[in-house]
Amino acid sequence: MEETTCRVCDAPVLEFADLGDQPTANGFLLPEEVAGEFRFRLAVGACTRCRLVQLVTVVPQELRYHAGYRYHASGSASHRDHFAADARHFLEAELTGPDPFIVEIGCNDGVMLGTIAAAGVRHLGVEPSGNVADIAREKGVRVLSAFFDEDTAAAVRAEHGPADVVFGANTICHIAHMDSVFRGLDKLLTPGGVFVFEEPYLETIVSGMAFDQIYDEHVFYFSVASVQAMAERFGFELVDAERIAMHGGEVRYTIARPGARVPSERLAALLAEEESAKLNEPATLAEFGRNVARIRDDLMTLLRQLRADGKRVVGYGAPGKSSTVTNYCGIGTDLVPFVCDSTPAKQGRLLPGSHLPVRPPADFADPYPDYALLFAWNHAEEIMAKEQAFREAGGKWIRFVPDVEVI
Ligand code: SAH
Ligand code: TMP
Ligand code: ZN
Repeated sequence: MEETTCRVCDAPVLEFADLGDQPTANGFLLPEEVAGEFRFRLAVGACTRCRLVQLVTVVPQELRYHAGYRYHASGSASHRDHFAADARHFLEAELTGPDPFIVEIGCNDGVMLGTIAAAGVRHLGVEPSGNVADIAREKGVRVLSAFFDEDTAAAVRAEHGPADVVFGANTICHIAHMDSVFRGLDKLLTPGGVFVFEEPYLETIVSGMAFDQIYDEHVFYFSVASVQAMAERFGFELVDAERIAMHGGEVRYTIARPGARVPSERLAALLAEEESAKLNEPATLAEFGRNVARIRDDLMTLLRQLRADGKRVVGYGAPGKSSTVTNYCGIGTDLVPFVCDSTPAKQGRLLPGSHLPVRPPADFADPYPDYALLFAWNHAEEIMAKEQAFREAGGKWIRFVPDVEVI
């Protein structure tokens, strides 16, 4: 599994952060499943040629995506709104010909395609995790249970014809076999079709110190420059890149066949911004690696101090990110006795690796802790609004990115 050459262009990869032995971030366990838990070394590096930031070791996809996949995309109001808006955009701007067709890679519980299905437009979700695929089907979404790759794309094309849009959100960076994905796109897309994907942005991760975005599922940490190089290498052209507010800051990329669309001005602007911020340079990434270690030390000092002062700290939200933080820092139940999360599929289970129990949000108020460690920091606004009574009762929030802070 260890890889020291780039998964896209085969040049050497230079490692810049090591987050230690980690489990799969969505591998929530029942107490009896603790023995024999899977672990691997979580480390990231950057390609010395195309600059693509990537995991050094990739966990096999079947260990990450299966019928027990715990991430449900419809879990927050902001995500539901965002993907409904995406769907409306596609309906208005791209799916306007006679009998248009859209494919989503990683449709999860149908958060985006539900709106397309309701509009009566031909669509197909490609989703390997059976449990979330079934939820999508209940919403009237058509789903193929498979991993997207060249063969899947050929099969979809044979059955449904070419696609006007292939979409992916928080999924493309999960797929290690990008060469096969692009060969599949070549087979599936219409001549004027687009591949649109929204993924965590390396700039947000680096400038916001969001090191908890690094976990087994996120194989790639895209920048506009590295996506442009990847598109070119596989015979396509990056024609647009737009910053969006999801997960603390992402980029929506649009890729087309060479010459099919005019590249946007905001794409050029973002490339220039990356250049002047030295985003893709080894020194920037090496500094990020040093800062990650500083945050760990600061957070552990605070949590140990609070315990010494007799304060109760509870975790809020059990996103995949919380696995990275708790395992990298070594946060156990002695410091944070449990984490509350609104996802029923996570409740009653243990956070992978660190084994903090996950409980329903109702347990948060029973009674309120002194401090809440905000693991789901990208939903801070929604959560703090919901939990106003906690603050009114004297409770305080702890954030750890970009710095450890009590608020
Ligand atoms: N699009 C949703 C879900 C993202 S979670 C959102 O943005 O919130 C990532 C999803 O991608 C999971 O449901 C996982 O099962 C799926 N996935 C992982 N590898 C895949 C692949 N090769 N092809 C299609 N889907 C994949
Ligand atoms: P995400 O950052 O990957 O979207 O995951 C957020 C996690 O936080 C998810 O498990 C749901 C949980 N959550 C709550 O428990 N309460 C909330 O109010 C919100 C918005 C999310
Ligand atoms: Zn490369």
